[in-house]
Amino acid sequence: MEIINAKYLISSPNVDKCPPYNAPEIAFIGRSNVGKSSLINMLTNNKSLAKISKSPGKTVMINHFEAQLKDETNTKLTDKEERLARLPIYLVDLPGYGYAKRSIKQRKSWVGITMNYLTQRPNLWFVCVLIDSRLKPQTIDLEFLQDLGDNNVPCNIIFTKTDKITQKEVQHNVKLFTDAFLQIFKKVPPYFITSSEKGRGRKEILGYWHSAYPQQV
Ligand code: GTP
Ligand code: MG
Repeated sequence: MEIINAKYLISSPNVDKCPPYNAPEIAFIGRSNVGKSSLINMLTNNKSLAKISKSPGKTVMINHFEAQLKDETNTKLTDKEERLARLPIYLVDLPGYGYAKRSIKQRKSWVGITMNYLTQRPNLWFVCVLIDSRLKPQTIDLEFLQDLGDNNVPCNIIFTKTDKITQKEVQHNVKLFTDAFLQIFKKVPPYFITSSEKGRGRKEILGYWHSAYPQQV
C-alpha cells in the first residue's frame, strides 16, 4: 500500500473553520514532542510536509493535509481504473497536549479546540493517539484516552520513537499500556509500534487504513 499526492491544505483555528468534509479523516494527537509531525512525514514519505520542531509546542492550529491511498499490489488496472481506485483521505496534525510552558488560559483553549474538533467533525474516521514508547503509562495520556472513551471517539494507538530503546523494553511498556487500556475501553484499540526515524510500522499502518477504509464518510 502507498500514500500519494500528499499536500498541505490549510491550518484552522477551530472546527468551524476546517475544510469541507468530503473524505475520511484521520487525526494525530499526543503529547508535545511525541512525534506527530514526524509520523505524518514518515507515512507520506515527505520530510518537509509537517513542520518538525526540536522545541515543543510548535503546532497550535488544526493542520489539514490531503492525500490518497493507492493499492500497489494490483498492477493490472488501466490508467482510468487505477485513478478511480485511489482512496482520498485527510490527515490532521493537532496541537500537542502537556506543554508545560502554556498558560492556564492557553491550556483551556487547547481543550476547547481539540475536544470540539474530535466530537464535532463529521468525517473524523478515528484519532491516532501517539505515545512515547520509552515511557510507562502516564496519567496525562490515560486521562486523555478516558476523555475519548467517554465521548465515544474511535481511536488507534501509535507507539513512537521505538528506535531509541530495545525491542524488549518496547514490549514491556506496550504491555503495561494495553493492560491500562482495558480499564478504559471494552477492548484494546488497534495499536502500532513505530519509528519515524527508521520507517518502522509504516507498512502495517497503511495496510490497516486500506483494509478498514469506510465505504461512506
Ligand atoms: P509538537 O508539534 O511540538 O507537539 O511536536 P510533535 O509531536 O509534532 O513532534 P515532532 O514530530 O516535531 O518531533 C519532536 C522531536 O522528536 C524531533 O526532534 C524529532 O526529530 C524527534 N522524533 C520524532 N519521531 C522520532 C522517532 O521515531 N525516532 C527518533 N529518534 N526521533 C524522533
Ligand atoms: Mg508537530
